Amino acid sequence: MNYLDRNEFNFEPSQQVVDAIRNFDPKTLCFYTRIYDEGKKSVISVRLSEIYGVPEEQIILGYGGEDILKNVIHYFLMVGDRKTILIPEFSWWYYNRVAGECGGDFVMYPLHETDDTFAYDVEEVIEYTNRVHPRMLLLASPNNPTGNGLTPIEIGHIMENIPDDTMVLIDEAYASFISTDTDYIAPLVDKYNNLIISRTLSKFYGLPGLRVGFGFIGKGHDQFISYVNKYLGYNRFSEAVALAALSSDDHYRQVAEDMDWGRQLYKRELGSLPGFKVYKSVANFILIKYPVEIKEELKKALALQDYKIKFMADKGLESCLRITLGRKEQTQAVCDTIKQVFLNK
Ligand SMILES: Cc1ncc(COP(=O)(O)O)c(C=O)c1O
Repeated sequence: MNYLDRNEFNFEPSQQVVDAIRNFDPKTLCFYTRIYDEGKKSVISVRLSEIYGVPEEQIILGYGGEDILKNVIHYFLMVGDRKTILIPEFSWWYYNRVAGECGGDFVMYPLHETDDTFAYDVEEVIEYTNRVHPRMLLLASPNNPTGNGLTPIEIGHIMENIPDDTMVLIDEAYASFISTDTDYIAPLVDKYNNLIISRTLSKFYGLPGLRVGFGFIGKGHDQFISYVNKYLGYNRFSEAVALAALSSDDHYRQVAEDMDWGRQLYKRELGSLPGFKVYKSVANFILIKYPVEIKEELKKALALQDYKIKFMADKGLESCLRITLGRKEQTQAVCDTIKQVFLNK
């Protein structure tokens, strides 16, 4: 089965990743990883500190981005009496669930459909945040399932104009597919104590099965840091593979280029067909509006070829498909199938 419904990685890991796994010495698992002497949490946080220019103390590690989000949301909604998180209208359903798990509640702010995207209205996000005065503001960039992102200038503008006792969590799980800029992160987490940026090795680095996520947090959160850090260390095997992934950007950039080929293909082939709209995407998936009458036919035609894509059910997106950007032949097959089913209708 070709799972193009889950935003996973349909390509090969880098050679460095394969070598790190093959050459891994099992005897090293007999020891905790904690770097006792240096007081650092992990070889990965040390490496991430070098790559992103953020002090190691301000880097958090987790079992995927999911774990970072969960720890951050649970902690900040449970400490203190404000329990509301603001989240984007169309976004990963899991944000609500995590807030609900710890007795928090959520308020949604809108995303606005434009010619080719669902956009944040930055002034409106600021207005909502000042009015609702939530404990947390969640921004997803790129956002799942809409595929749109925020620029560093927009992030800075939001941070500058909201209360500093609202913790801002930017979920950047789907970063790096289009923009390679990471220079904005260090100055932002240096300046804004109420900012957390979360990333993962699951998407751009294609290792969702490894379960490694990381985040950057503003200064002055010693209690949270002690809550989230693992006293005895991290998973040594995951660390070795993660280090290899982090040093093979060239391989993953090549993959991102194949994905971009897919974006162009969908835009070119489906963008001008009646009833279709191909949204701009900066993630590893693309959102496409389609004539919903072809839904059952399309499902069947894709199933016959062992393909799965996501037929959206979220309110307001019922006539949309979310398709993971896979290998060129997978993208070609899905695009051809959609087109054929539509033209034969
Ligand atoms: C928006 C978003 N954030 C974060 C994640 C977390 O991914 P992981 O826990 O694999 O890092 C996902 C996974 O699909 C996601 O869709």
